[in-house]
This record gives sequence, structure tokens and C-alpha cells, in this order.
Amino acid sequence: MKYRDIISEMTREEKASLMSGKDFWQTMDIERLGIPSIFLADGPHGIRKQAEAADHLGLNESIPATCFPTAATVANSWNEKLAMQMGVHLGKEAVDQKVNVLLGPGINMKRSPLAGRNFEYFSEDPYLAGKLAAGMIKGIQSQGISACVKHFAVNNQEERRMSIDTIVDERTLREIYLTAFEIAVKEGETKAVMSAYNMLNGEYTNENLHLMKEILRDEWHYDGVVVTDWGGSNDRVAGLIAGNELEMPTAAGETNQEIVTAIERGKIKEDVLDQCVDRLLDLIFTTEEAFNQEPKMVDKTAHHQMAQLVAEESIILLKNEANILPLQQDKKVAIIGDFAKETRYQGAGSSIVNPTFLDHPLDLLEEPELNSIGYEQGFDRYGKRSARKINKACALAKQADVVLLYIGLDEVTEAEGLDRQSMEIPANQIELLDALYEVNSNIVVVLSCGAAVEMPWITKVKGLVHAYLSGQAGAKAVQRIITGAVNPSGKLAETYPLQYEDTPAYHQFPGKEVSVEYREGPYIGYRYYDRADDVDVLFPFGYGLSYTTFAYSDMQLSKDGVTLNITNTGKVAGKEVVQLYVGCQSRAIFRPEKELKGFTKVALNAGETKKVTIRFDDKTFRYFNVKTNQWEIESADYKIMIGAASDDIRLEDTIFVEGTEAPLPYNKDTLPTYYSGKANQVSVEEFEALLGHKVPNPKWDRTKPLDYNDTIAQCQYAKGRFARFVFRLIKFSHKLLWKLGKRDTANLIMMSVYHMPFRGYARMTGGVINMPMVDGVLMIVNGHFFKGVRHVLRERKKLVKLNKDKGEFSTSKTGEGEVL
Ligand code: BGC
Repeated sequence: MKYRDIISEMTREEKASLMSGKDFWQTMDIERLGIPSIFLADGPHGIRKQAEAADHLGLNESIPATCFPTAATVANSWNEKLAMQMGVHLGKEAVDQKVNVLLGPGINMKRSPLAGRNFEYFSEDPYLAGKLAAGMIKGIQSQGISACVKHFAVNNQEERRMSIDTIVDERTLREIYLTAFEIAVKEGETKAVMSAYNMLNGEYTNENLHLMKEILRDEWHYDGVVVTDWGGSNDRVAGLIAGNELEMPTAAGETNQEIVTAIERGKIKEDVLDQCVDRLLDLIFTTEEAFNQEPKMVDKTAHHQMAQLVAEESIILLKNEANILPLQQDKKVAIIGDFAKETRYQGAGSSIVNPTFLDHPLDLLEEPELNSIGYEQGFDRYGKRSARKINKACALAKQADVVLLYIGLDEVTEAEGLDRQSMEIPANQIELLDALYEVNSNIVVVLSCGAAVEMPWITKVKGLVHAYLSGQAGAKAVQRIITGAVNPSGKLAETYPLQYEDTPAYHQFPGKEVSVEYREGPYIGYRYYDRADDVDVLFPFGYGLSYTTFAYSDMQLSKDGVTLNITNTGKVAGKEVVQLYVGCQSRAIFRPEKELKGFTKVALNAGETKKVTIRFDDKTFRYFNVKTNQWEIESADYKIMIGAASDDIRLEDTIFVEGTEAPLPYNKDTLPTYYSGKANQVSVEEFEALLGHKVPNPKWDRTKPLDYNDTIAQCQYAKGRFARFVFRLIKFSHKLLWKLGKRDTANLIMMSVYHMPFRGYARMTGGVINMPMVDGVLMIVNGHFFKGVRHVLRERKKLVKLNKDKGEFSTSKTGEGEVL
């Protein structure tokens, strides 16, 4: 242990006190030993340091910081160096704001296009997500502070995120859902990991020994800190045993006492606590050093420009019929759409950043590159169809050569805590598009949203620029792409299906009650569409256009990697993302057709040729064998493919690889759908054959009394009449608020009340409610109203007295006592 001396001077209570927060954002300090508090703050694409009232849903304002493009956007750059540079800038701002741990990046896989936080995550591909995250982490940590990769793991839906049990087979877990984390840990060397809210195969991730000990610590040799997601601690002692150093936010000492008691009763050895304290102290002391340097002013303008640069590399040109883009300067342009006036640039929830500057497309029209003839709103992002607005927009469009139409999803639709209900763009926007098409067919759409949407309207547009959520400088970046000042080079980091029904998890997303079954196994994103050959997609993974063209040639294959030449065959400079896919030719083990195993982004002047090398690594040929319980390589021929997109393979060759000769893991006869690849229709029996055990009953047992981990939503069948009344009241308020147009408040009810497990009220209220009071609430819920009320009041009284005696009951500015 590195800090043995200090630890030996600490009382057991002091050690335990470090194991949960001091308030909403800070860790506990111990003055007499010179142990300071450290500050943790969101987030993944900008600092959200709350100086006043604190919350984990982005409700209260934070100190201004640069809002970089969100991870879904950055991923389209396929540029690890750029992600690192962005990380450096994030790190500098974190140091400036005295933030020790930056709560990002988020690297969960995009299992379904509807998952509410897709905008905050990188990709449907673990290799791409892992590499970009590693770059970003290195950048952040180069400034002396810590990143915190999240949410470990299989946190792929927002509905019931604090209680859902994710059922996934071991191979899929390793190959798809953990690989990005493995890269972030091993290559990014992240100093902190945030455990996810959900359960994994029956255990909360934070307590899951397989995940947290066997994989994270023993296999990956991770020696950093694990912090719970906010309010995500279930059984504190079980968490500690699994190596969870820090529970956030504060539980006002309640859970620290549980640790002390567990040691006193011999349930755990003191050494378990000491090891956790040692790792936490390392995080505290090493990140504090970042603040000992001479303070450097953050140049806000330079950081804004960096945000623009990241956006410029990440925005994707998806359609360019008849080379409508870049716009010629003499073309008269009508600017239409609510999103042109008020840009859509980030998602809602804990990642929300209070930007230092904010560019809106309309503000940039004065600039000479664009010959704008005017603006019309056309639609209201939260409203219904407006004939008046449409008519005005059409009148303007008639006078223009080209219509620049800004559409997308609104802020309330893409929010943490809620999954989207459909993949559609709101109808009033499409009605506008239809009307515009009747008067002017030269339409270029600028799309703003952080996840895949359906585009049945695509035939009506000639140009499509996908801005994703491109941060505070995104509007300028879009403008530079439209006018040709920048040649687009983004490529999709996720597949765009034609319709939601085509997606691999369609029948199994989201898990509604107890569990969610990942029946599609490893067939996520393009891994599914490639094999399910009757399913066409709108835009494949890896797709994106440029104003120039590239030719691929002279592929040379060796046992170490691939070398090839790439030539810019067009008239302007540009950047191409060269993608390496590998496909095992043996059919002994079911697999996707091909998987991304490398990539590189190359800048080329017109006519220029460059030699490119992509090396194989430890992930190129491996698969996880559930029989040997380790990574193996199958002896087989492997197709090595170089592509400009996952469906656009330009060069290919085959190599034989000598494998590890492990026994075959599967009985083919019991897994026909997995071998056929049509994995969105897997029966429960076949899934159980893959898992090797039965699935839990996915439905609530409505006969059982409600418990700590049941949610308020389950009050619908509670024994207590009062609880059922409260449930109906919540549902009614939600509906009413929605009808009144107060969609964000309605959403808040779903996030912080409806889907909250009862234990959450003790974990998230900074000591205002404790577990004995939750016991009383459960008595009420389970039909013992008066007994429950008495219990709550009694426990509350005890708590107030205890806190008075300790002299500790305070409401600190950083959020202790915050009720959410
Ligand atoms: C989110 C985390 C975030 C934390 C603190 C949670 O609700 O899931 O991503 O870092 O809040 O704001």
C-alpha cells in the first residue's frame, strides 16, 4: 500500500468516512491528517461545476465552460488525436475550475437507437468507442486531474435505469459491452471508473464481483478508483467488498457506519477498507497536485475555436445530389427552420454545460460567404403544424435558389433518464419539408440530433449535413462546411436503419419491469445488419461523404498488419477515414460477418497519395470462449478488409492465423438463430441455451410486498391504498404537464420520482431521509399506513437529534440536503 503510514494513523471511523461523499460533489476531508476534499464534476463534453444548488440532472446552473460537441458527435471524427486534444482542453478547464475528477467520457454501447443517452455515448462499436475514449482520457489526465469513464457497464437504457437487471451472455458482455472499457482502462489508463446504476445478471454492477473484481481488477489490473453513479449504491458493504472506493453523493454518514459495523462484526476484514482508502488517497493526492502549478488563465476564445475544430471534423455529409454542396456564392439562399434561430447543440441531463459563447446559425448570416435572402421559422420546435409559418417559409423559398432547412430533435426529446419513444423527426417539421419541396426542390437539410433518426423524407432533399450535437461552436462549423471552407470528413459511428422495426433489439428494448434480455447477443449495429441480409439500412456504419474522392490501392498484408496507398483523386484537399474490418471465415463459432479492428484518418491534398499502415493488435483475431473462460483465437482464414464504410470495402485479402486450439464453445444445434445471424427473433429457449441458464422472470411479482429496490412506478399494484393513490396522482400530473406543454417538468417527474427505487430517497437526499425512514415509507406502501407514518416520524426525530448531537446537520452550498 502506498499510503500505509497515513492509513495507520486513521481511526476506523475516519477511514470509513472517506468512503462516501461529503456533499453532492466533494469527497470527505480529514484536516488533522492533511487529507483534502476533492471535487467531482460532470461531464463528458464540458465542465458542469455547480457552485450553488446541486443536482445530477442538470437542472441548476453551472459555472460557464466550453461546450464541446457531445461524444456521439466526436465519434464521427474517427480521430483519436483530436479526441485527445479535446481532452486536453477539458482538462485545462477542469483545473481552472478546481475540479479533480471529470465525470466522463461515457462509453456505453448504442444497443438501440432509442436509448435516451445515445447522444452522450460514442458508438455501436466497442473498438471505435474505446479508442476515442482512451484518447480523450489521456488528454484530460495530461493536465494532472482524473477522467472517470462511465457507466460500467451495460447501462444501455434509461427507463428504470436504477433497477433494471441486464441479462447478457458472457461472450457478448466481453466482446461488445466491455471492450470499450477495457481499452479505456488499459490504454487510456483512466484513474477513475463510474459503476452503472443497473444490475448485471442479477447483481448491481457496483457489487458484482465478476465485473468489478475478476474482470476490472484481476484481468485488467486496474488500480484506480471506482465511484458509484449518483445515488447508485445499493448495499454499501457489498460494494466495498467489490472494490468500490467512493459512494456519491453523501449518505450523511449512514453507510459509513454500515462499513464500521461490518468490520466490527467480522463480516469484512479491515484490510478491505484499507485497500480502498489507499486507492482513494492516491486519487486525492495525485489530482491535488494539478492545483499546485502556477494558475494558467483559460483562453475562452481559443477553447471556443477548439470546439469548432472538433465539430468541423465530426459533422457528416450524408447526401450531396448533383453536388448541391458546397453552396456557390452567387446562389440565393433561404434560411428556414427554428433550429437556425436557436441552435440545438447539446443534450439534456447531467451532461448539460453552461456555454461560454454560443453560435446560432442566424447570427452568422452577415458573413459574406453566404448569399442569404432571409429567414423564416417555418415550425415551432415544441408546437404543432402552423399553416401560417409554412406559407411564409414557402413564399421565401420560392425566391431562393437553395433552401437551407434546419431541422432536428428538440432538447426535451434527447434527455438523460428517458428513452425516446420513436425514431421520427416531429411531424410539423416534415410537413414543412413537404410543402417546401413543392415550391423549391433544391433543399439542403442541416440535421441536429444526437442519435439515429428515420428519414422517409430523404428523397425530398438534395443535400444532408448531419451536425449531430456539435457544441457551442457547431453553427459556425456547419456554415464552413456548407460554404466549402471546410471539406467534411465525418463518418457515422452508428448505423442508420430504415425504420425502427429493423433494429436488432427491437423486440427486447427497453426492459420494462424486472429485466432486459440481450437476446440479440453480439449482433449489435452493423454486426447485425451485415448478417441479417434481408435488412437494408439507410446509412451504414462508417459512412460519410466528402467534396473530394479517394482511391484505395496496393494493399499489402503481413502478420503484423496492412499497408495500402490512398490517393485523393478529386480537386480539393480532404480527409479520409480508412477502416480495417476483419471477418473470420470459419463458421464453427457464430460471428458477425466483419468487425472493426482498426482505423486511421488521413489528410490528403488534391492528387496526393499517402502510404497508410494499420497494425493488428491483441483484439484483431480474438474471441471470448465461454468454455475456457478466456480470450482465444480460432485457427482459420480471416478476411482482411479495407473500407471507406462498413458496406464499402475497397480492398481485401485473406490471411491464415494459427489459433489457440481451444475447444469449441457452442453446440451449433441449440443456437440456430445465432448461427444464421437473424438475431432479432431469438426465442427465450435459445437465449437460455446461449446463457447456459434460465432467465429470471421478467415480470414483477405483484403478490410480493414492495421493497427497497422496487420503484415508485410499482406502487400501481401496492397493497397500500395511499400508495396506489400517489401512483395515480403522479401519472395524472405527468399527463397534465405534458398536455400543458411543460414537457421538461413532466420528464423530471419520470426521472426523479417514477423510476426511482425507494432506497434512492435515502441515497439522494444527503441525509434528509435515511434508510429507517424508508422502512416506514415501505410500511405505508405495503398497507400499514398509520404504523408507517409513526415509524417515519419517529425515525426522523431520532435522526434530527443524532445530527444535532453531532452538530453536523447543515445544508451546504454544494448540495447537502438537496432533495431530488
Ligand atoms: C448520471 C451520471 C452523472 C451523475 C452526476 C447521474 O445521474 O448518470 O452520468 O455523472 O449523475 O451528475
